[in-house]
Amino acid sequence: MPRIAHLSDLHFGEAPQDLVESLAADVIMAQPDAVAVSGDLTRRASRDEFARAFAFLEMLGAPRLVMPGNHDIPQGNLVGRFMHPKRRWQRARPEDSAEELTLDGTRLIGLDTVSRAQWHLDWSAGGIRPERRARLAAQLEAAKGLDVVVVCHHPLRHGAWAISRRAPREAGATIELLRAHGVKAVLCGHLHQPEMMRLDAGGPLQVIAASAFSPRGFGAPNGWNLVTVGHGAIRVESRELLADGWHGRELLPA
Ligand SMILES: [Fe+2]
Ligand SMILES: [Fe+2]
Repeated sequence: MPRIAHLSDLHFGEAPQDLVESLAADVIMAQPDAVAVSGDLTRRASRDEFARAFAFLEMLGAPRLVMPGNHDIPQGNLVGRFMHPKRRWQRARPEDSAEELTLDGTRLIGLDTVSRAQWHLDWSAGGIRPERRARLAAQLEAAKGLDVVVVCHHPLRHGAWAISRRAPREAGATIELLRAHGVKAVLCGHLHQPEMMRLDAGGPLQVIAASAFSPRGFGAPNGWNLVTVGHGAIRVESRELLADGWHGRELLPA
């Protein structure tokens, strides 16, 4: 069954080099079939941060599906944010970057949930515009018969501990689309704390990864998730860096 290294919230720009090297060694040792990155590669979307993030991912060796997060578009530069929010992201990405990966009966599909602005003050929140959902619907249609895992930055629903955070715009319609197509799981990040929950009764699992490198873990250690998926089942091991090294624990639905 395919084994996916799910990394999120790398935040190059605030990533300690020894932690980067330690996590890379742990991922490489696990020999995943693919690496899925659910956004926030950078702290401030600078060229240097993107270059370091993509060089790090290249080092992991496995095929990669990499999606952007809210930190991967300009933060303070409003002209850049509105006129060409993805310019640096597009320029930094390797030309052959995948937005879908197929692994022995499992298909990973990337969904961009990054939004330039909101009608409220939390501009870190995401959104799924109808055209993005239409594209996703076509991708899901084409993946019939496969175990589908969607990779995006923003959680589509928040657990009780994060209820004050805004869900992405039109998250409800997106969850309904995923449920209707029998999607197995959504891999995401943004909250910097590992968690698993069911999005809907009988619907997809939502799996959140810790921040790989950011010190802003809100009490959670840095880490990544090893996701094994296939034959309709999914198992997630949260890999966490504790004081005495790397440990794995199985994530279960909250
Ligand atoms: Fe983040
Ligand atoms: Fe984020």
